[in-house]
Amino acid sequence: MNTFGIRFRFTTFGESHGKAIGCVVDGVPAGLEVDEAFIQSELDRRKPGKTKFETARKEADKVEILSGVFEGKATGTPIAMVIFNTSQKSKDYSNIKDLFRPGHADFTYFHKYGIRDYRGGGRSSARETAARVAAGGLAKLMLRELGIEVNSGISEIDGIHATCYNYDYPAQSEIFALDPSVEEAQKNAILEAKKAHDSVGGVVRVVIRNVPVGLGQPLYYKLDALLADAMMGINAVKAVEIGDGCMSARSKGSQNNDQIRKDGFASNHAGGILGGISDGEEIVVNVYFKPTPSIFQKQHTITTQNEEVDFELKGRHDPCVAVRGSVVAESMAALVIADMLLLNMGSKIEGLKRYYS
Ligand SMILES: Cc1cc2nc3c(=O)[nH]c(=O)nc-3n(C[C@H](O)[C@H](O)[C@H](O)COP(=O)(O)O)c2cc1C
Repeated sequence: MNTFGIRFRFTTFGESHGKAIGCVVDGVPAGLEVDEAFIQSELDRRKPGKTKFETARKEADKVEILSGVFEGKATGTPIAMVIFNTSQKSKDYSNIKDLFRPGHADFTYFHKYGIRDYRGGGRSSARETAARVAAGGLAKLMLRELGIEVNSGISEIDGIHATCYNYDYPAQSEIFALDPSVEEAQKNAILEAKKAHDSVGGVVRVVIRNVPVGLGQPLYYKLDALLADAMMGINAVKAVEIGDGCMSARSKGSQNNDQIRKDGFASNHAGGILGGISDGEEIVVNVYFKPTPSIFQKQHTITTQNEEVDFELKGRHDPCVAVRGSVVAESMAALVIADMLLLNMGSKIEGLKRYYS
């Protein structure tokens, strides 16, 4: 499966060291203004090589729209977008051609397919996530017309937690930090790991505002289930929480229930979703990223011939994938909400009748 979504659906293609990556997005409502500069600005937030907290691989990540847009508006036909790869250094990967990096997908891809593009991890590389960000840009443009906002940022790096969440701050932070008071400590944790030829994990928080009550299918396409699916599908994501998440398993019902008042909920432990359906509060998703598997210390593994070897990696890698992962998580959240909006238009007869009014 290289496709995600039902009504607002996208398919991605391409590999880390191939010619290009890209996506085809189907279901974008006709007439939507497609602001290409906005889509490019989303890619610019994710692109590698901007700061010392990211991989040194420098990519322009210039997006080109190939189809589905006429005079600046979506025509209702598939929108194809392409991003050419410009900074491949395949030689860096020649020493892992016949061995499996611990923590990466080399072992499983080889055993599943019997053939593996070892250059930069091939299709298992997070380079593919640029295509998701391009698709997410289209979803965000649609949500923007409806007043729905999706924001994200880093809440935790190497166990250093945010104490507050300022969703305007990530735009001016080199690591997309949500809390300026812990940003420096979080940055230091990344740099120290990098100096030790190691890597660190982190947590991204995504918040979605102004979502109407009623998005989500009640049983097998619940809004929280789809968000979890979207987030777990991002490289290196190991856990997803909605609202209080794991903490709610450790609290009492009297603490966890959000009391209901005429003008809304008194708290939001539920993270904006009840019974798989949005309740009108902010939707809060915490996304847990593991540390980057490609580290520059000596490691032990096996070759494709099943021989044990020690090896040291070369190449350019992110010391903390959560940093650039935050934009990817935000894009996936936007794609889920766009899909759910289109899917839910027919959940009430009034929604259908609107077509005839
Ligand atoms: C934005 C982003 C950048 C990443 N960069 C790297 C990287 O530079 N080196 C690396 O080994 N893994 C990187 N990863 C993680 C790997 O792609 C991922 O760990 C690998 O595909 C194995 O999949 P899994 O961790 O989901 O099991 C990155 C992930 C994301 C989201």
